[in-house]
Amino acid sequence: MSSERISRRVGAITESATLAVDARAKALKAAGEPVIGFGAGEPDFPTPEHIVEAAVAACRDPRNHRYTPAGGLPELKEAVAAKTQRDSGYEVLPGQVLITNGGKHAVYNTFQALLNPGDEVLLPAPFWTTYPEPIALAGGRTVVVSTDESTGFRVSVEQLEAARTPATKALVFVSPSNPTGAVYPEDEVRAIGQWAVEHGIFVMTDEIYEHLTYDGHRFTSMPALVPELADQCVVVNGVAKTYAMTGWRVGWMIGPADVIKAATNLQSHATSNVANVSQRAALAAVAGDLDAVELMRAAFARRGEVMHRMLTAIPGVTCLRPQGAFYAFPSFQALLGREIRGHRPQSTVELAELILEHAKVAIVPGEAFGAPGFARLSFALADDDLVEGITRIAEFVTSAA
Ligand SMILES: Cc1ncc(COP(=O)(O)O)c(C=O)c1O
Repeated sequence: MSSERISRRVGAITESATLAVDARAKALKAAGEPVIGFGAGEPDFPTPEHIVEAAVAACRDPRNHRYTPAGGLPELKEAVAAKTQRDSGYEVLPGQVLITNGGKHAVYNTFQALLNPGDEVLLPAPFWTTYPEPIALAGGRTVVVSTDESTGFRVSVEQLEAARTPATKALVFVSPSNPTGAVYPEDEVRAIGQWAVEHGIFVMTDEIYEHLTYDGHRFTSMPALVPELADQCVVVNGVAKTYAMTGWRVGWMIGPADVIKAATNLQSHATSNVANVSQRAALAAVAGDLDAVELMRAAFARRGEVMHRMLTAIPGVTCLRPQGAFYAFPSFQALLGREIRGHRPQSTVELAELILEHAKVAIVPGEAFGAPGFARLSFALADDDLVEGITRIAEFVTSAA
């Protein structure tokens, strides 16, 4: 027997930091601790009723007790194509759509389909904690391009150009951003898209937070603004965030026919189709109107504002106002190294542990997103919990000497 029980490839994968924080908070809560969790990236709302009803009806229809084509229900692919045209003005054919087990699976499929060993992928930081792992699993090399508060956590063409090498195969672009809440204005999206076209670089644009923007900020879709990019662009999206459907596991990728064909072949051997009932629920979601989405968006907008106001009132904490998604990304740098109730946290990992232990509040340290000194707090939780949680953090850290 080999001395290595777990393959090097998989052994090198780290646990998802965001899911780990969430699991720890839920475990403490189950043990009776009054924990407030800002860790999870999921809406606290139930899935809208008409979507649930469609799923209930689908359960009763024996047609949905069977496989669908591996790449997804034809009706759902059509509806995703129509919804993409409606919401972002990007015209695609149903054959360019692959229905996946959530947006995460679409990210995985994309890198498996695109990367050869040694290919470089430009990843602006702070980044969603998941991206580097599927890049590595596909043999790719993540090249981090750092951004900070001074540019609103947005990357520029100049920075991307400086990081480009002959091995650069793709760029990961996310707007609205997890974890920073940044939304790129249209001219910047266009400029980055044009740069990618000029250099033959693929763009994986993650549009999962497209409908969650605040304060006059607006989502724009890169391939809609730069149509020449279509042949080297993969759009990742899904129903999880928009329709409060994280548990249903339906996402999709949209791309050139050859990329979608390759990813569909991969999926046909890995997972086959997404659960048929979930696909029916997703069909009701994307084919329906956006009324319920607007109600949830308005609630997130209100909560984001409260969170921002409360965080920036804490001495030593700075925070950009969230423009989209449902995260605040404050800096705790001024508090590091200072004494807080007998401890001197040197990193946001240590600070987050102290906050969980003493204030019973779970936040995700910025290290998980390539941004030490910061932390991510989701505002997709009930208003009262939000206020109570930030109050507890404030009380805890203001005891810093
Ligand atoms: C930026 C981004 N993309 C994709 C996803 C994947 O979502 P899901 O797999 O639940 O559809 C998430 C979830 O946190 C996300 O934040």
